[in-house]
Amino acid sequence: MTTATAQAFANIAFIKYWGNRDNTLRLPSNGSISMNLDGLFARTTVTFSASFGTDSLRIGPRPVTGPGLERVSHFLDLVRPLAGMNWRAEVVSENNFPSGAGIASSAAAFAALALAASSAAGLDLSEAELSRLARRGSGSASRSIPGGFVVWQEGETDQDSYAFSIAPPEHWDLVDCVAIVSTGHKKTGSTEGHALAPTSPLQAARVADAPRRLDLCRRAILERDFESFATIVELDSDMMHAVMMTSAPGLFYWQPASIRVMEAVREWRAGGLPVCYTVDAGPNIHVICPREQAKSVERRVRKLTGVQDVLMAGVGGPARIVS
Ligand code: DP6
Repeated sequence: MTTATAQAFANIAFIKYWGNRDNTLRLPSNGSISMNLDGLFARTTVTFSASFGTDSLRIGPRPVTGPGLERVSHFLDLVRPLAGMNWRAEVVSENNFPSGAGIASSAAAFAALALAASSAAGLDLSEAELSRLARRGSGSASRSIPGGFVVWQEGETDQDSYAFSIAPPEHWDLVDCVAIVSTGHKKTGSTEGHALAPTSPLQAARVADAPRRLDLCRRAILERDFESFATIVELDSDMMHAVMMTSAPGLFYWQPASIRVMEAVREWRAGGLPVCYTVDAGPNIHVICPREQAKSVERRVRKLTGVQDVLMAGVGGPARIVS
């Protein structure tokens, strides 16, 4: 029997991943940029044993079977041959943030699983190897392996599609104030959504323009230029949602309260407050600002009609083994 426990932070994308060139390998149609979310993590223990007849999964107190377990089992099937073993595993995972809060739990979960499973299997993978492995579980999980501000280069093949850090957490003290407007489960998950992306006539234009947006966003982060950062982050989020809304079938994630938050954020910025929004595959709004403005932004967001709660997270470090 061998066991390991790992912890990984969730992340929020500033330049989004939407659509794959290869859905099985999770080779994305475009590169993406994110920051890890300090304090919002998944912690996962993997135990391999010759005596287990099947893989099992528990998330918090809840045993998971069906498609959830199959996805994890399929992922472990990538790890076992790397380590030259075929033992089944018990996977026990917990998130310290509410699921359905508009924070992709799959990113933290598969990053923690990649590290815990490979380590329990006796493998000592490099950061790039871990990121590639995590990518196979959930694309955005590739970005939760390195720390701080992270680029996932789209790559040409399985070998070169992985994420790396472009700046450590202390480079820029940004805060994500997540405005929760709904905790209901989303109707269409990301995996299905990626498969629909090519059906939008806007996706080709979005992908063709991605190198320009990636470059502007990377430069804005390196120069800590909030104004340029805000412009490109909002554009990228709006472009992804335009693709979502115009795919077949169309995916509409925004709710009336989501639009109220986005409108307020644009007004506050026009009034001189450094703040911007970005939205993933759900109705909750990630409101990003420098630490100095975080208290004031949180107060303002809480007052908006339809906002149920606000979660706060700074910039997080890399995935790591915890014992
Ligand atoms: C909108 O990584 O959750 O959050 O690879 O199918 O697990 P799978 O998808 P996932 O997609 C994330 C989509 C997004 C944008 C982003 O995080 O880049």
